[in-house]
Amino acid sequence: TASCHRLRNIVLVGFMGCGKSTLGRVLHQKLSYPLIDTDHVIEEQAGKSVAEIFADEGEDAFRSMETQLLQSLLDDELNHHIISTGGGMVLRPENRELLQQLGFVVWLFCSAEETYERTSRNNNRPLLQCNDPMGLISHMLSDRTPLYEDASHLKISTSGLEFDEISCGILESA
Ligand code: S3P
Repeated sequence: TASCHRLRNIVLVGFMGCGKSTLGRVLHQKLSYPLIDTDHVIEEQAGKSVAEIFADEGEDAFRSMETQLLQSLLDDELNHHIISTGGGMVLRPENRELLQQLGFVVWLFCSAEETYERTSRNNNRPLLQCNDPMGLISHMLSDRTPLYEDASHLKISTSGLEFDEISCGILESA
């Protein structure tokens, strides 16, 4: 049932720069559940950065690695973990299904402006390397919004809130 799934893991989804990693760390400290960051696991398994995987093998190959990772976490019957995911994890319908099976899925969101501000602080995101990142972010955000909606059980804005407050909100709803 849904409530059993909710107690298993807390899964964070949302666009690049929405605060998944930061909130993952806060929840990890509060619950002392281990934290899994799917980008990091994929980088370790591939022995290279996400940017290098995109450059060498292409986006599709990266997406397949994401699907395989979700499937293996489910196969391992992962329990009581915080799972922070890459922003594109919701793109494949099978991933949205797998995410929901893994646990209580929280969608973190903030405005395009804030996303731009946060993502422009470092340039390790291959999808945002272009002449008009702000335009691209607005487009991608609106394209992906229904996918995050579909994949998640709870939607939380990370604008103007302390991560401590956000984590309390999640724990009350989970
Ligand atoms: C991506 C988001 C990134 C990373 C990859 C692709 C995306 O993760 O998985 O660069 O398609 O939105 P973050 O959301 O952690 O930056």
